[in-house]
Amino acid sequence: MSNIVSYEEREKNFDWSISEKELGYKDGDIINIGWYCSDRICEMGKADKLALIWEGLGGVEKKYTFDDIRINSNKFGAFLRGLGIKNEDRICLFMDKIPELYIGFLGVLKIGAIAQPLFSAFGDESLHVRLDNAETTAIITQRKHVGKVRKLLEKSPYLKYVIIVDHDGKKPLKERELTFDMESYEEPKDFEIFPTKAESASVLHYTSGTTGQPKGVKHVHYSLISQYLTTKWVLDLQEDDIYWCTADPGWVTGTSYGIIGCWSLGITQCVLDTGFSATSWYEFIQKRKVTMWYSAPTAIRSLMKAGDEVVKQYDLSSLRHLASVGEPLNSEAVIWSEKVYGIAFQDNYWQTETGSIMIANYPGMKVKPGSMGRPFPGITAAVVDSKTFEPLSEPGKIGLIAFRPGWPAMMRTYWENEETYKSKFKNDWYLPGDRASIDKEGYFWFVGRDDDVINTGGHLVSPFEVESALLEHEAVAESAVVAKPDEVNMEVVKAFVTLKAGYKPDDMLELSIMNFIRKKLSPLAMPQEIEYVDSLPKTRSGKIMRRLLHAKEWGEEIGDTSTLEDDE
Ligand code: PRX
Repeated sequence: MSNIVSYEEREKNFDWSISEKELGYKDGDIINIGWYCSDRICEMGKADKLALIWEGLGGVEKKYTFDDIRINSNKFGAFLRGLGIKNEDRICLFMDKIPELYIGFLGVLKIGAIAQPLFSAFGDESLHVRLDNAETTAIITQRKHVGKVRKLLEKSPYLKYVIIVDHDGKKPLKERELTFDMESYEEPKDFEIFPTKAESASVLHYTSGTTGQPKGVKHVHYSLISQYLTTKWVLDLQEDDIYWCTADPGWVTGTSYGIIGCWSLGITQCVLDTGFSATSWYEFIQKRKVTMWYSAPTAIRSLMKAGDEVVKQYDLSSLRHLASVGEPLNSEAVIWSEKVYGIAFQDNYWQTETGSIMIANYPGMKVKPGSMGRPFPGITAAVVDSKTFEPLSEPGKIGLIAFRPGWPAMMRTYWENEETYKSKFKNDWYLPGDRASIDKEGYFWFVGRDDDVINTGGHLVSPFEVESALLEHEAVAESAVVAKPDEVNMEVVKAFVTLKAGYKPDDMLELSIMNFIRKKLSPLAMPQEIEYVDSLPKTRSGKIMRRLLHAKEWGEEIGDTSTLEDDE
């Protein structure tokens, strides 16, 4: 049955109770995402329906029905409980996109513990600051990532268990290490799901800001109410769909829509756990007969670069709906996708903090290429003045995006950082930190971020984190990190550094600094260019003026430099 109803119709009669009713939830009931994504689907008669079709390197394939997901997540839950892990303990999932990541996530939620997924390409420093902030009790990982975890054990006394899901018995285990084999672990009898309530914490996702360490965005089980309905209406998932969300569950799209949204609707999803290439992606769509594809602008631009010819070599006729999130989706990419796939990618906007899609284009509404679309029904959105925080009523005027708090998936706080959480609200608006304008028909047009955070290929990188890590390199005296334009990733990281006496500013050193950051933080955070400078522009109070360096990179007006110390 089609989900398509006009935007106006939905907007008119909207209430979140629509979602609650469909999920059979009433205020005060127990609500556990783990149960909703597996047990409930089985109880609805879909136990034998495929939930996950997984493909790894070399075409290796694994398939799981909803009953397999139910049983295996129970196994995860029972195993963790057996270790003494209780509700609200933070459990980190640090794995590639393997089935254990998706199923383990539900297992953690089923015992009421808090799932803390972290991108497996993170280096030991990125991992450490996030585990430290959450005082994580256990980390579930793979053999190939254990080395990074071992590096931080000594300084992480709270971390009691390192659980390896693919141990082959060859290398001896070290202190605090345990093995868990999902397939061979005995199915627990009478496994009881923890009776979480609407406001019980569920997921802790880390996101980067301009200043300070990354923030742990705390979500609750009630977020399901938003995630379920936005999946149904925006991603338009229907009973026989084969859904492919290309996002990694280390990031919010990979959990809200790569696990919770699709499985709470009982939809089959497929996962490709290999790197990106246009041919492997098209082959995957052809082989798996993907019908709904949720991806990101950087991937779409890379596909565009691969060209039109390669598209013709594959049968992509199964596709019926495409959506995109994470960074600006330029109108060229929208128009190109319509030309080569016969359907256009539809943009939507949200963030880790909002937990679910906020502004979107979707079936049932007119799409304007280059616009993020209109607020999801039930979401009150505006563009407000950056000083008064009053809504700007004039169409086309640029201001800050603002949302009235109160939708189910909104973050509840930043972990151990209530102060920063509070600072995100002004005049009863939640400010996500982005600038946009609204046109006459209520469509939102993205302009840019309102801070120095770098959005590279849809992933936020904090200049502060990279600058701090750079200072740990033996040759670096001072550094400033900004975004530089990039054709595919839109933005990449660029570092300006001054060197300590005795170091030569040459290519070898540039490589050494780049690698240092890649290993410590992640490949995303690695500067794509290092520019050696004699000094960095600073304010009179000694603060580095990133704004000036950024403006130079982007060929923009430099603006007010009256507070600069070294005004040229
Ligand atoms: O700046 C906006 C940008 O990505 C930020 C959120 O990043 P993150 O919390 O990592 O979540 C990404 C996936 C939900 C936003 O504050 N962003 C997200 N979607 C769009 C976007 N920028 C432009 N257009 C979008 N559609």
